[in-house]
Amino acid sequence: MKLLACLLTTALMAAASSAFAAEEKPAVPATPAAAAAPAPAAPAAAPAAAKPDLAQGQQKFAAVCAACHGPDGNSGVPANPKLAYQHPEYLVKQLQEFKNGKRPSPIMQGFASQLSEADMKNIAYWVGTQKAKPGFAKDRELVTLGERIYRGGIGERQVAACAGCHSPNGAGVPSQFPRLSGQHADYTTAQLLGFRDGARKNSLMMAQVAAKLNDREIKAVADYIAGLR
Ligand code: HEC
Ligand code: HEC
Repeated sequence: MKLLACLLTTALMAAASSAFAAEEKPAVPATPAAAAAPAPAAPAAAPAAAKPDLAQGQQKFAAVCAACHGPDGNSGVPANPKLAYQHPEYLVKQLQEFKNGKRPSPIMQGFASQLSEADMKNIAYWVGTQKAKPGFAKDRELVTLGERIYRGGIGERQVAACAGCHSPNGAGVPSQFPRLSGQHADYTTAQLLGFRDGARKNSLMMAQVAAKLNDREIKAVADYIAGLR
């Protein structure tokens, strides 16, 4: 114990004296001595708050979310949305709103409630960097109507073109307008019905767009979106 304390004191004194010596010859010997103490504390405090931890996100996703959303966020189940390559800010917003009930979902509220703000960010930034698998349109007859609505809207009813906000290829515009392309048509249909009928009330913009669409138009545009790339 005494020996250790003695060694430490000696080391400190050596460091101090080399720091003193360095005042004339700037930087070189002073830097290692000065940097040695603050170095371990800095990386833990500063970047952790700002930067998402992708490894943590991946781990949590694999443990809880992958069962429904697919191991890489490309869900194979039509009712469960694909999350891969979605804008992380949009995903965080959805998770917050599942948690606080602004976007009601009996399934997602429970899972989102168990996530901290940091978890949400870690998961969203991990899954948002996974490669998206493309989808396919299924209904030849409807897809033409869907394409027309997506690209041009419906003039006589003042329905804005989806492309205007979600971009022509459905990639969306970070961070405000989500990516739509390749999404399961069943999921997209359910969301548009939800916006229209008030079950999903977390976007006034989308409520206004969906309010003027009938069931057939919703089905058509959802089918077109599934094949969009
Ligand atoms: C039991 C299946 C299941 C599990 C497990 C699950 N989800 Fe979901 N998730 C769903 C379903 C179904 C929806 C569609 C909900 C709706 O709109 O009503 C959804 C929707 C979402 C959305 C919205 C996507 C969008 O495009 O708006 C996000 C984000 C999401 N889930 C993230 C997660 C995360 C993160 C986890 C793990 C912590 C998770 N989910 C676990 C089934 C699940
Ligand atoms: C004025 C801009 C605007 C227009 C036009 C618009 N959207 Fe959106 N859309 C949004 C915004 C903003 C959101 C994100 C809502 C949120 O934050 O929850 C959204 C979300 C969506 C979602 C939910 C995505 C998901 O993963 O759950 C779907 C589906 C969608 N839009 C389809 C459409 C379709 C189809 C059209 C055309 C008929 C359209 N949108 C036109 C702004 C727009």
